[in-house]
Amino acid sequence: MKKFSLFTVLVGIFCLPNLFYGQTSISIEETEDAPTISKHIYGHFAEHLGRSIYDGLYVGEDSEIPNKDGVRTDIIQALKDIQIPNLRWPGGCFADTYHWKDGIGPKEDRPSIVNAWWGGVTEDNSFGTHDFLNLCEELGAEPYLAANLGSGTVEEFTDWIQYVNHAEGSPMADLRKENGKEEPWNVKYWGVGNEMWGCGGNMTPEFYANLYRQYATFMTSWENDNDLYRIASGANQDDYHWTEVLMRDIPKHLIEGVALHSYSFVEWQDKGSATDFNEEQYFSTMKTALWMQELIDKHTDIMDKYDPEKEIDLIVDEWGGWYEVEEGTNPGFLYQQNTMRDAMIAGVTLNIFNNESDRVKMGNLAQTVNVLQAVALTDGADMILTPTYHVLKMYTVHHDTKLLPVEFDSPDYTYEGESLPAISVSASRNDAGNVNISLVNIDAEKENKVEIDVDALDVDNMTAEILKSDELQDHNSFDDPEKIAVKEFKDFKLKRGTLEVTLPPFSVVVLKEK
Ligand code: AHR
Repeated sequence: MKKFSLFTVLVGIFCLPNLFYGQTSISIEETEDAPTISKHIYGHFAEHLGRSIYDGLYVGEDSEIPNKDGVRTDIIQALKDIQIPNLRWPGGCFADTYHWKDGIGPKEDRPSIVNAWWGGVTEDNSFGTHDFLNLCEELGAEPYLAANLGSGTVEEFTDWIQYVNHAEGSPMADLRKENGKEEPWNVKYWGVGNEMWGCGGNMTPEFYANLYRQYATFMTSWENDNDLYRIASGANQDDYHWTEVLMRDIPKHLIEGVALHSYSFVEWQDKGSATDFNEEQYFSTMKTALWMQELIDKHTDIMDKYDPEKEIDLIVDEWGGWYEVEEGTNPGFLYQQNTMRDAMIAGVTLNIFNNESDRVKMGNLAQTVNVLQAVALTDGADMILTPTYHVLKMYTVHHDTKLLPVEFDSPDYTYEGESLPAISVSASRNDAGNVNISLVNIDAEKENKVEIDVDALDVDNMTAEILKSDELQDHNSFDDPEKIAVKEFKDFKLKRGTLEVTLPPFSVVVLKEK
């Protein structure tokens, strides 16, 4: 019989649990100069697309569905509960077809618009500038207006700014007052076109950079204390040349943010069902979601080259999962269900944004209601909240907090010989001094144990919440709206400065100090 030395036995005793559970050590280092995690990372996006605005947000003042000024009160409450920090509108691709003057004044006099990008439906412009900006006021969210560069003019663009921001004594301020709004809304965030490499006009970056300079020159806040924040339409995923040209050709005094769009999908040409997917499709989706880290790293490297002082922010103003539309719905409406897969996308993406918050200052999940990775779905008077909604709610603890940088080697999530990091983590300390840690285990099969060294952070009294379900494909439906809900989580221990947490497969856990 083979003999074992005492050393071998002891090593075995200490290592066995790690082999079985994949124990991961996470260290957190608090640094003086760590960035603030802007709450705007948790922003949203609502486009005139399918049932996003009409039916989703806006049902009209005469609707039997409870509403405030035409906007569903159930949606208003849901968005307030996740402390929605900003809302981007009116597009997307729609933005560069939108003429804002068609959406002001008496509703019955407004001309219609054919939504050329999304289903070719005719819209009556009953939801316009006042409706949107008043909604933002109601929500306590900053509006982010994506203005029309592709098919508009400098005059139309700058008139919009004057209309919403100039207090008095100008033609547009007078027009606003005539339309019943005395005080300006003071809109800070302005997108200068959308996807100018594609639906915004199929431009080259060199051409767009010149056009951007022209438009940005005439953008004035009209008020000294209301500086505009101008966001250049950014790259599609790994189009690094686009970012390079914008950073090189746009003078710093004309720009505050550069955008980036990146969606998660199985394959762009074969997106697959939102609910009926296999592990291979799940794995591919998570691969594109986690690609966000590399995209941010590489776009940031380019930005660092031209802007080492980090004066210009990276704004990920479209992200989320994109699948085939629900069977029987208009293909141009992009209506899809939302499963635990989407909760995984949200959890890992928001952890990436938190960890990159020295450059990433805003993110906009696409899209708020009834479109793509929505936080809420509606059916007539009914509304349900999606798993993604719950992740956003759990992560509110990170809004406007100080980042606590984390370091760890993630165990692998392996599928058919390919591997992805299974664990994603971010941590922060809020103004009251409390520490919050969000953890995601994307592994479809395996639980993962983590040990977090919080000794130096002086942490005590933690509580935790979890979002998990039996199947990755599980989702909330109008028949079973609470199937996936946040639950109290007890599978953790705080012992002598170490937090031991067991993360079930495909789960999101948030630990917070009381
Ligand atoms: O979010 C849907 C569409 O995706 C947007 O209109 C466009 O900007 C992007 O391509």
